[in-house]
Amino acid sequence: MWQTLAIASVVFPGLFALSVRSLGWAAPAWSLKDRILLSSRMVSSIQATMATVSGIIVVLNCKDVVHDRYWLAVEYVWVIVPYMIYDIYVMYLCHWHKSKDTSEKKHSLASVRSFLEKDRLMVTHHLFILVVLTPVAQLKMQDTLLHKVNGILILVTFFLCRIVLFPFMYGAYARHAGIPIYMVPFHIPMHCNVANASLIAPQLYWFMLICRKAVRLYSSSPSNKNR
Ligand SMILES: *[C@@H]1O[C@H](CO)[C@@H](O)[C@H](O)[C@H]1NC(C)=O
Repeated sequence: MWQTLAIASVVFPGLFALSVRSLGWAAPAWSLKDRILLSSRMVSSIQATMATVSGIIVVLNCKDVVHDRYWLAVEYVWVIVPYMIYDIYVMYLCHWHKSKDTSEKKHSLASVRSFLEKDRLMVTHHLFILVVLTPVAQLKMQDTLLHKVNGILILVTFFLCRIVLFPFMYGAYARHAGIPIYMVPFHIPMHCNVANASLIAPQLYWFMLICRKAVRLYSSSPSNKNR
């Protein structure tokens, strides 16, 4: 636990700093802001990949869905904690760099407050994680094939990892208990249903936002206008 915590606390900020540096070296024309934005997304996607792979390993190694404890599932918590702390700081950095052009010039209590007061912060944060690989609009890549393939990948992975996950869990429980899946909500404690519902609700909302963005992206493409 302490070892994982220590390693993760060094690795995420380390990767971030390294990426900002090497981008400055590899793409000197980019502004610090762009390098920070891209680096934060790169580190986020590394974490997302690690989390997904760990999740798959855990699922593949658990036979008894109720009683099995797989060490990786427990250990990964100690990766998440330093990551979240690091990520909050990087989110602030990004916010500061983006608003610097218009208002705030220095790091101050006011700039931290303006960051915290962004009520749509969490949505933005999650969407940022999702668009990790999406080339930013200013790179003028909105119309490229890569951008569209990435959009589809986001849609599919989000759907599989954050929405299908819930019916999958209920299905696993149904198999374990030997009951049909629609009986599961009545078999498990009420608070589990409530917790699951409140977890899936924001995911559905975000999925709707992503779909809307996708529709806009595909309907505004030049090839569609010709049809
Ligand atoms: C969600 O439901 C599953 C059963 O399908 C249950 O094992 C799990 O504990 C629930 N999640 C929460 C956070 O209660």
